Amino acid sequence: MKIAIIGGGNMGEAFARGIHRHFTGGDFELIVSEKNVAKHLAFHSLEIVTTSHNLEAVDNADVVILAVKPADVEQTCRDISIHLPGKCVVISIAAGVKLAALKEWLASDHVARTMPNLLASIGKSTTVWYSEIENEELKILVGKVLESIGSAHEVGSENEIDMATAISGCGPAYVWYFMEKMIAAGVAIGLDAQVARALTLQTFEGASTMAMNEGFDPTEMRLKVAPKGGSTEQAIHVFDEKNVEGIIDEAIRAAYKRAEGLGK
Ligand SMILES: NC(=O)c1ccc[n+]([C@@H]2O[C@H](COP(=O)([O-])OP(=O)(O)OC[C@H]3O[C@@H](n4cnc5c(N)ncnc54)[C@H](OP(=O)(O)O)[C@@H]3O)[C@@H](O)[C@H]2O)c1
Repeated sequence: MKIAIIGGGNMGEAFARGIHRHFTGGDFELIVSEKNVAKHLAFHSLEIVTTSHNLEAVDNADVVILAVKPADVEQTCRDISIHLPGKCVVISIAAGVKLAALKEWLASDHVARTMPNLLASIGKSTTVWYSEIENEELKILVGKVLESIGSAHEVGSENEIDMATAISGCGPAYVWYFMEKMIAAGVAIGLDAQVARALTLQTFEGASTMAMNEGFDPTEMRLKVAPKGGSTEQAIHVFDEKNVEGIIDEAIRAAYKRAEGLGK
């Protein structure tokens, strides 16, 4: 099997790492096509083959992963369309670029639209995907490729891809934003910066691990650690007073709106 990744930036590299780790064997081939030659080095250090020519990458490919910026997708699709092998399935990760447009530019029905996230680089992406592919074997292949970078969830309507963009696509940045502000607040009240960082990161890791347990209810747990008159209750009171819930809702809606418009 041959997998070609077009675009060797943040996400292309994350996919390459996951796929390289997951798929092995003599008949497996992975190639990354990246026009910026300076970025090839990172792949060579992982022993991943690169090219600057998209047509070389897609030649005889079973799977092509489109990992260029939304604005570059149309031209990239048009360039490769007549060279795509009939058996090939194309997986687009571009935010906002609609399936109908991808199918038209690629002149192919074997196309899946997905929304992964940057956690793909450590095999922890949660990726949603949507396609109108009728061939079951191709759909299984799409699922397998996406599972190489984390968990994959097929959704029944394309709109859910834009919704997922606002939650899990952008989500790692929201978490890192919150971490950044918590570390800064810890330093502001007098903690050593290294200690504030360690406390914050470990708290996020532990809370996430606990939250993954079956039957975990975030509201119930929050109330448990926020008894009346305690410190946690004071902090939550400030969040509520400042309408953090409304701010989060507004932020997610802004991301969703942007995701819907990105490909236009
Ligand atoms: N970053 C995220 O967290 C995230 C999450 C989910 C989905 N996505 C989607 O993933 C895609 C890639 O995002 P990214 O953050 O990885 O962007 P990026 O770091 O800019 O990577 C894109 C790479 O593709 C190269 N490129 C552009 N046109 C090309 C072409 N025709 N052939 C070969 N390479 C080409 C770019 O080179 P130049 O820089 O020289 O143009 C760049 O190195 C986007 O469509 C985005 O919507 C990103």
